[in-house]
Amino acid sequence: MKKPRGTQDLLPEMLIKWNYIEESFKKICKRYGFDEIRTPIFEHTSLFKRGVGESTDVVSKEMYSVFNLREYYQFIQNKHVENNLSHDVIDKFLADKNRLTLKPEGTAPVVRAFVENKLFANVQPTKLYYNTPCLRHERPQAGRYRQFHQLGIEMFGSDSPISDAEIITLAFEFLNDVGLKNIAIRINSVGCPKCRAKYNKMLLEYLEDKTDNMCDNCKNRVFKNPMRTLDCKNEQCQENIIDAPLMIDNVCDDCISHMEHVKAHLDILDISYMIDPKIVRGLDYYTRTAFEIVHKGLGAQNAICGGGRYNGLVEQLGGPKISGVGFGLGLERLIIALESEKVEFPKEYKPDLYIVSVDETCDKYVSKLVYNIRKMGLKVERDYLGKSVKAQMKYANKINARFTLVVGEDEIASGKYIVKNMETGQQNHVLLDEISELIRR
Ligand code: HAM
Repeated sequence: MKKPRGTQDLLPEMLIKWNYIEESFKKICKRYGFDEIRTPIFEHTSLFKRGVGESTDVVSKEMYSVFNLREYYQFIQNKHVENNLSHDVIDKFLADKNRLTLKPEGTAPVVRAFVENKLFANVQPTKLYYNTPCLRHERPQAGRYRQFHQLGIEMFGSDSPISDAEIITLAFEFLNDVGLKNIAIRINSVGCPKCRAKYNKMLLEYLEDKTDNMCDNCKNRVFKNPMRTLDCKNEQCQENIIDAPLMIDNVCDDCISHMEHVKAHLDILDISYMIDPKIVRGLDYYTRTAFEIVHKGLGAQNAICGGGRYNGLVEQLGGPKISGVGFGLGLERLIIALESEKVEFPKEYKPDLYIVSVDETCDKYVSKLVYNIRKMGLKVERDYLGKSVKAQMKYANKINARFTLVVGEDEIASGKYIVKNMETGQQNHVLLDEISELIRR
């Protein structure tokens, strides 16, 4: 059997890197005052339709949605339509309330949880972080998976550009913390509903007579969400719209002022960024700030991190008028980028002590010793396969145990052990109580 396309097995060696990155992310989130949130792996399909937007690729093409067969049969029985599965009947059943979707991204579920649990009633801002698997039915390629993981943060209740700048700063500092160098921050303003409506009209007028030269994707998008044509990767599409009007030249005064303040707060920290008017993001909820952090070593899928402000989303999902801003960072892409820069990860798990059992009669005593020394907080390994003393010593060497201790009749009788430092060869005679101190020293 093989794993499904676009998924990965995370083996122990790989997980050393993952754990290190996840721990580093947790630490920086705590430093910045964010608390963890976990939401279900699936949500009602309608959440993503309403939250992320029906015209986005994520919702229209990439969602893994499921429904419950048993409920479906029940529905059909109740309707007395056993042998008449017309499309209407099926569509009615598949209406959103019966459909669940495996989460393709982290923001909409966190906003749903923020509203449902009335976190808006607490003193604001609410600052949350998460680490979640996401599922998108995309064509797998390097850096693009069907199951991937997002490290994300969302801050609610602040309209201030200081929040946008702090979100970007956190992402930047985190990437620095884990040792990544070749990154570039790209920022844009996608405006607010007021200026976006005017801009969309202007863009549509510009694009209308250019549809013949567009790729099929853009042909579909142009009337639903014209801005998305701007970040199409197809070269012919890009040439076709080379002099398209840009959002950033058409945002209202309030949006400009917001953007200028975000920039000023990044400037004061000496964080470099560039303004990229083509960043429009693939999800519908963004207002004002939109940003991406890209890495040169990633090829076509070069965005490690994407985020921005979403001032209307909480209200759209049934909450009060509260704004939000955040980012999602792809763990798999981050690891690929770190590997491409040959960044060193912490060393492998090394046992502090390997306890050798001389023969079967000593095994029970060894069990007790291992149990007690592990309780002291040390990593202890032992034999499970009935190996000879020589083979056990060889194994201890192979797994890089720092110390070894041999248990035979004498040790059991005296309660005194010879602990050997595997690096220096030095041997010490110690009692149980002294083992932990000796190893820690
Ligand atoms: P996104 O740009 O769709 O934004 O995804 C965020 C990050 O997830 C990307 O920059 C990328 O690193 C990673 N990613 C996305 N798709 C894949 C894939 N198929 N395989 C591997 N990695 C992938 C969001 O999802 C927003 N929720 C971010 C956000 C949070 N905006 C505000 N708050």
